[in-house]
Amino acid sequence: MEEFKIHKDLKLGVATAATQIEGGEKNTSWYRFSLEKGNVKDNTTPLNANNHYELYKDDIKLMKKMNIEIYRMGIEWSRIEPSKGEFCLEAMNHYIDEISLLKEKGIDVLVTLHHFSCPLWFEDAGGFLKKENINDFIDYVKYVVISLKGLVKEYITINEANVYAANSYLFGIWPPKIKKMSSAGKVMRHLALAHIEAYKLIKALDKDIKVGFASHLVMFKPANPKNIFDRIGAKFYDNSFQANLNRAMGRGNFGFPMGKVKVTKGDYMDFLGINYYTKNLVKGFKMFVDPNTEHNDLGWDISPLSLDELCKRFYEEFHKDIYITENGTCDKNDSFRSKYIYDHLKVISSLPYVKRYYHWTFIDNWEWAEGESARFGLVECDYETQKRTIRESGHFYSEIIKNKEVNEEMIKKYLTKE
Ligand code: BGC
Repeated sequence: MEEFKIHKDLKLGVATAATQIEGGEKNTSWYRFSLEKGNVKDNTTPLNANNHYELYKDDIKLMKKMNIEIYRMGIEWSRIEPSKGEFCLEAMNHYIDEISLLKEKGIDVLVTLHHFSCPLWFEDAGGFLKKENINDFIDYVKYVVISLKGLVKEYITINEANVYAANSYLFGIWPPKIKKMSSAGKVMRHLALAHIEAYKLIKALDKDIKVGFASHLVMFKPANPKNIFDRIGAKFYDNSFQANLNRAMGRGNFGFPMGKVKVTKGDYMDFLGINYYTKNLVKGFKMFVDPNTEHNDLGWDISPLSLDELCKRFYEEFHKDIYITENGTCDKNDSFRSKYIYDHLKVISSLPYVKRYYHWTFIDNWEWAEGESARFGLVECDYETQKRTIRESGHFYSEIIKNKEVNEEMIKKYLTKE
């Protein structure tokens, strides 16, 4: 294993999402969904999660101890706007306090405005299925951005429009459990439009704020690169799941599966946010996990070289700084997370235009339909006592940030264990 250095423009941190860590909020689509038996693997709800809403000061202390430089965090829309048009100052002040404390500790924030979860009033009015509801999202964005003026310099408008549209509106495994191809296309279209509107609004409020979206990218590889049908299948999935969506959100250039939309073509991204986890093989139109590689606890293929390929490809297309807004793995026993971090950071350190890396995730959290069972944290959480314990991989990551490199000593201590 080789030593490597973190390049000088690359900042390292962690990412979380409000619904997954805060606890205590019942007014969301996800809390209601979790109450119905069978929707969530272990029948837990996000009400508990990490109780971060109360414990945020301790968590920030822990981040500081771990040398975290940057933090991607979410805002829970339903707290800010519990009913349509009524904004809650107390909730807003909570986030102002939290972000101020982070700043005081020298941790810069990237704030996510929408991460899978909707207030019930919005969900019940049709959510992003209805084009006119985009205005509601924009009202919320305006309130937050004005309230956080001077504190927040970077925003993600929408997290993973493709994953949200697919799981919630095509496969029906997430709220509101709709299984309709045309609905998924529509929701993707409206999320892209919502991003463009939010981008324009935030830039009009403060042109120095950087705005982007978090794009979930999967590497779709033809099972047999020499087979034309496998190549066509892989290209189809790439275009319909992610590449066309990036073009719509980033450039106003709409195509399948969002349909044609008349939007002024332009530049609607200041950086490209990439959430990267895995690679899939494609045989004709059949998709499957490569049986010959390493997998995480959820059976996802681990493929750091795919991250290299995806970053290069999308940098070539958009010529924007890349922020890795999520990357991490589900590893309950922490037996391969350090290696995972090593391999992925090694790739990124050789790409000068990758400017941020937010590891997913800071602490084991409520993993949507997987509930509390899936463990992605650098910090382990005992959900009964809320005790936090830094995992070995968390210590490894902290040392990388401190030393700005992975050196021989660290390789011996955390990877080869000589
Ligand atoms: C989501 C996160 C999630 C992670 C791991 C991403 O698709 O943005 O909220 O926890 O994947 O599954």
